[in-house]
Amino acid sequence: MNMATHSHPVICTSGLTRRFGDKVAVNDLTLEIDRGEIFGFLGHNGAGKTTTIRLLNGVLSASAGTARVLGLSPWRDGPALRQRTGVLTETPALDERLTARQTLRTYADLYNVTVNQVNHRVAELLELFDLSERADERVGAYSRGMQQRLALARALLHDPEILFLDEPTSGLDPVAARQVNDLITTLSREGRVIFLCTHNLSEAQRLCDRVAVMRHGQLIALGTPAELARQVTFSAQLSLEVAPEQMAQARDILSHTVPMSAIAATETTLTATCADREDIPDLLATLVSRDVRVYQLYLHEPALEEVYFKLQDTEEVTA
Ligand SMILES: Nc1ncnc2c1ncn2[C@@H]1O[C@H](COP(=O)(O)OP(=O)(O)OP(=O)(O)O)[C@@H](O)[C@H]1O
Ligand SMILES: [Mg+2]
Repeated sequence: MNMATHSHPVICTSGLTRRFGDKVAVNDLTLEIDRGEIFGFLGHNGAGKTTTIRLLNGVLSASAGTARVLGLSPWRDGPALRQRTGVLTETPALDERLTARQTLRTYADLYNVTVNQVNHRVAELLELFDLSERADERVGAYSRGMQQRLALARALLHDPEILFLDEPTSGLDPVAARQVNDLITTLSREGRVIFLCTHNLSEAQRLCDRVAVMRHGQLIALGTPAELARQVTFSAQLSLEVAPEQMAQARDILSHTVPMSAIAATETTLTATCADREDIPDLLATLVSRDVRVYQLYLHEPALEEVYFKLQDTEEVTA
């Protein structure tokens, strides 16, 4: 990998738009995704997530705007691009009559995996996805989770640099979902970009470095889960642990230093609602300058789920 490639975003879109008749499925989408990111793509049903994946893989053409993926144009260089990307579609079409091993061998052929590598690669993926034992059974006899793992294995056959996953854990039980999520983390650590569409917000919060929130085809927010939390919430819960004998003093400082409301206290911990996180450094400085011994200070960021619903209710938020 040369430096020039390294420093460019892996996915870059500008004004990307796709219409179906009068309907604008993706509207003026501009974003950049860097190497190594797990990027969450969120939004209600019909927000434009799957359409975006199709556009970025050159399966659909754009009505307007541009996109570069791995430095290639998805529309002009589609076949070359698709040799370097893997897609797990929303409903992975698997031939139920084939076995897992046959499925992977067939697709290895399509992806130009070299003949002398096929057996090794297929065996490696079956092992990674915990399918080895039942690799020679027909896919029709697999559970939903096994089918999903097989579909994920298929998307990885050609060792793609970007993996597009369209709701990879939908319909899976919590154990199977966790297995898939652990695999996503492993694949990301190996240096792949993961573009993850999901409706599972706690999953997105745990996995994703950054998330984008789409609404009616438009990007309404973009950033780390913590950044988005700061954009939509005006207050955060602060907890402060101090020495018990300094509790009253700390409480006094807290109530005078920053505009906080509803201070509550246990023997060692003060909690308060803080209207502006920028007040926290001042608070800490004051406490330290008055010799209050602070053992812990913790800001409870709201969960991505809460942020997501606020974003969907508010006007456009610019990152
Ligand atoms: N081939 C198509 N022809 C006509 N309209 C389409 C087509 N594909 C998508 N659309 C419309 O574009 C909009 C966005 O659809 P898309 O499938 O991208 O949404 P999504 O965010 O993936 O939703 P979901 O969460 O339900 O999977 C929807 O209104 C959908 O009906
Ligand atoms: Mg979709």
